Amino acid sequence: MTISPVFLDEIRARVPLSTVVGRKVRLVRAGREFKACCPFHNEKSPSFYVNDEKAFYHCFGCGAHGDVIRFLCEAEGRSFREAVEQLAAEAGLEMPRESPEDRVRAERLGGLVEVMTAAQAWFAEQLQGIAGGEARSYVERRGLRPETVRRFGLGFAPDRRDGLKTALLAKGASEALLIEAGLLIAVDDKTPYDRFRGRLMFPIRDGRGRVIAFGGRILGDGQPKYLNSPDTPLFDKGRTLYNIDLASGPARKSERLLVVEGYMDVIALAQAGFEAAVAPLGTALTEDHIQRLWRLVPEPLLCFDGDAAGQRAALRAALRALPLLEPGKSLRFVTLPAGQDPDDLVKSSGAPALERLLEGAQPLVDLLWQSEVQAASLATPEGRAALRQTLLNRTGDIAHGTVQSLYRQELLERFDQLVGRNGARNPRAGGQWGSGPRGGYRASQPRVLAGTKLLVERNLTPALPPAIVDALVVGLLEHPDWLDRHHEELERLTIDDPELARLWARMLDESIHDPCLDKARLDNTLASEGFERLVATIRARPKPKFTFTRTGLDPARCERDFSLVLQSVTRINALDTECGEAAATYRANQNEDDWYRLQRITQDRELARRELADLANALDA
Ligand code: UTP
Ligand code: MN
Repeated sequence: MTISPVFLDEIRARVPLSTVVGRKVRLVRAGREFKACCPFHNEKSPSFYVNDEKAFYHCFGCGAHGDVIRFLCEAEGRSFREAVEQLAAEAGLEMPRESPEDRVRAERLGGLVEVMTAAQAWFAEQLQGIAGGEARSYVERRGLRPETVRRFGLGFAPDRRDGLKTALLAKGASEALLIEAGLLIAVDDKTPYDRFRGRLMFPIRDGRGRVIAFGGRILGDGQPKYLNSPDTPLFDKGRTLYNIDLASGPARKSERLLVVEGYMDVIALAQAGFEAAVAPLGTALTEDHIQRLWRLVPEPLLCFDGDAAGQRAALRAALRALPLLEPGKSLRFVTLPAGQDPDDLVKSSGAPALERLLEGAQPLVDLLWQSEVQAASLATPEGRAALRQTLLNRTGDIAHGTVQSLYRQELLERFDQLVGRNGARNPRAGGQWGSGPRGGYRASQPRVLAGTKLLVERNLTPALPPAIVDALVVGLLEHPDWLDRHHEELERLTIDDPELARLWARMLDESIHDPCLDKARLDNTLASEGFERLVATIRARPKPKFTFTRTGLDPARCERDFSLVLQSVTRINALDTECGEAAATYRANQNEDDWYRLQRITQDRELARRELADLANALDA
């Protein structure tokens, strides 16, 4: 049941925020506000402000921000409803009863769940029927047994615009409900049509086993490989883990829970006897995901590809978890052989091979240490000092006092061992901590550079407009903090020119290892690694004059423009790949459907290119 905004405002007005916060930390008056040391991160001088008039708190140190309800949730671990109930009691207010609108909403949710369940049943039926022949052989090729297909409720969406639509309308669902459920796409005034076409369907279930969304995989090669339901009233990607319902029992029982990247990984693992596995849905792990995992086991095992991009993702997950660490709660990291996902691994090497890797899972502290040492340059005193500073900064993110001080102590001890007490470099020291599959750190190991995927068909497609890619690079050189903020899109971009691709990957690498990366430091690093010439060439080449390729302009505006261009380029990039693959399919089969598909994608791509050109003209000063 939802609680009305009016009631919430009443609570905010009646219970002074400072009273509630004052029970947790010591407040000192500062003008019209109060200040205190922030309860959400560790600090010595107060940067946490409480404003009773505006009824919110804000921390200038860690960015924590919210009202009295949020404070109880975050500082005391209350659920939203519990916080409201407590505050209502304090304010002498009675909790409101369920309103008729609430009942309508609950019914509508029931309606959404019902329609998703019906869709799942229909997809499953199609997989077994006449339309499902190709999909069935695909499933078989991927080694899925019939009982696995049934257990995970897999299905097939035929390649038609009105397959599911017709079936569910006939069952009495309304078009509006199907649109709201994300099953139909409605653009402008066109007739709504099936979102999922020609795809193997993976139902996504919530913790109670209700179908709340779908992921659809293309059969064979093609782009996008997976299409997922959009966020709906039922489905919030950042709070959903694939297979959480089936995995939670086995996870609690075995005190072990694997976190992998994909649907197919989860399913292949279950088939190989690892039932306790979940996956986020094509995004990085969120804080909410991590908290959910911790409700099942104290140390979930995160599996990542051993390649450079996989290792960056591992470090990102570790950094996201740092502020949340609590006594006994952590993450462990499993590094898979480069280029293999868990599905590949159990297929090629069997369950025992995975079991061995799991046994060698690296504790978070080791992963952090290892990746920072690998990224550091230990040959000079400044380099060593930078490593020490980074370690201190990282541990500074840990909110829990004891965990923070123990982390700091441990990492500084390792640091002293590594460089020797007198500061001289001692490359052999510290090996005792090298646990995990990679046998500890190797300080002098050359950095692995992320390769970019070279698709066979790419030469069929024109490259991304080079001047625009140059402009993005110049923007990043000018504003290295964007590397981190936009990393999801930046990581996704496929750059053809190998030298440029190396520079791109190197910048991303640097940004993750150096949270205080600034222009000068980035320039230095790139110069010291032989990128100077390339950088100079890129700077000299003609390119549009965007706000972000110039200096001294409003950073917020620059970043907004940068983000617009980046999004547009990412879209073209995806369509390029899709186009290349559609062309290959058409060449192989020479059939009419494939030809139409190729035409459609080519048109989409042309449109996207024109949009980028328009955008570039509009932004070019
Ligand atoms: P992967 O590309 O690693 O796919 O994406 P996979 O799970 O190994 O799939 P197979 O083995 O090729 O069939 C991992 C996850 O990222 C999301 C999906 O959730 C996928 O399971 N993803 C991937 C998307 O959402 N869209 C995509 O286009 C690709
Ligand atoms: Mn896979």
